[in-house]
Amino acid sequence: MQNFELYNPVRVVFGTGESKNIAKHVKSLGKKALIISYDDITFLESLLSDIETKLVDIGIEIITFYRIKANPLLCHIQEAIEICRKNEVDFCIGVGGGSVMDSTKVIAAGVLFQGEPWNMFVSRHDCSVSIPPEKSLPTVMVPTLPATSSETNCTAVATNEVTQEKAYVSAPILYPTVSIIDPALTCTLPVYQTAVGAVDAMSHILEAYLNGDQNSPLQDRLHEGLLVTIISELKAIIKDPLNVDHRANMQWAASLAWNGYLQSGLNATTPMHQMGHVLSALYNTPHGVTLAIFIDSYFRYTCTLNSEREARFALLGENVFGLKRDGQNNREIAEKTVDCFVQFMDEVGVPHTLSDANIPSSDIERIADEIVAHGCDADGMLPSIPKIGREGIITILQMAI
Ligand code: NZQ
Ligand code: ZN
Repeated sequence: MQNFELYNPVRVVFGTGESKNIAKHVKSLGKKALIISYDDITFLESLLSDIETKLVDIGIEIITFYRIKANPLLCHIQEAIEICRKNEVDFCIGVGGGSVMDSTKVIAAGVLFQGEPWNMFVSRHDCSVSIPPEKSLPTVMVPTLPATSSETNCTAVATNEVTQEKAYVSAPILYPTVSIIDPALTCTLPVYQTAVGAVDAMSHILEAYLNGDQNSPLQDRLHEGLLVTIISELKAIIKDPLNVDHRANMQWAASLAWNGYLQSGLNATTPMHQMGHVLSALYNTPHGVTLAIFIDSYFRYTCTLNSEREARFALLGENVFGLKRDGQNNREIAEKTVDCFVQFMDEVGVPHTLSDANIPSSDIERIADEIVAHGCDADGMLPSIPKIGREGIITILQMAI
């Protein structure tokens, strides 16, 4: 395990029905709030109207911005920042999944940021250095989708629709002030969306497990426990979508998967996310689907790259899927581990190939160029263990067809 510093000030309020108590958690944050949600709020209509009423009842003036799209766009963030400035909003409330919560973070920080909000983001087209935000209005998150951990971390991801680039910003000031995690709100999620979110949460764990410090047995067991939980709870939700206990376990697992605690001491890289963001930027592919594509192809490409990698994948398969040695070597078990992940994605109905995600295989060269431009280091290498160059990226993409 490597040295680390950890800071996570988010006040988490967790439990079925807790969203109904929002007033008591926000009353000290100011007199005027911007509530942020999706452009299609059909499934959240009664929740949003309940939140609006509860805030008005305690004398908070509300303005609504229900314009956010999945894979959120910079133009909407800019629009909301102007609304906040014009109306002198005191705090922001995000009601939705990662796209809404990430937008809420950038809007709240953007109000107090000098210059264009895009300047906060890293890995931008123009390669200029990003300026991390240092001030933000308070933010309140009411997550409706277990996936990203945005409710418990200080990261936000957005797409610049002009440069067609998806990039991220990570800064301590972006930690939400309060996150009210009410699992009952996720019962409206269709099974498909639940499964895609679960694959995202799994991928956060897998990135750290496979591409971080590999001498951290405590972190390994925590990660394996989360993976086992997400896999079994997703299967249970598919059978019984309205069971709030399963929804609660799924949501807490997703909130823990990328909140910094589990990554501590690992110094992990995120090659699947780097590649996945390019697919979302170019084709608006849902985030979890981009990761499913690389859980399949990147795993098959890397699981036998060297003996350390084989041992790592074998350990994963033994502890998560209960694979038995039965005289097999690491390579054989490593390959079976990958098969288990692919079978799981088939079982829960998550597409995991470029063709199933309607991404043209004729674009592979272009996709690889974008990955090198945005996801690779100064030497053009994807930060994975071991590092992967453009040729390897092309092979992964070909394996993804
Ligand atoms: O489009 P509709 O049909 O309205 O569906 C919405 C939404 O568009 C639906 N949804 C959300 N809550 C629902 C619901 N449907 C029914 N009932 C509910 N309770 O879900 C669709 C997708 O929502 P979105 O917010 O895009 O999903 P997710 O939570 O997966 O967020 C993805 C975004 O987060 C970023 C991704 O890159 C992507 O932009 N990420 C953020 C991270 C972070 N902040 O740390 C890390 C992640 O790795 C990720 O990059
Ligand atoms: Zn993710």
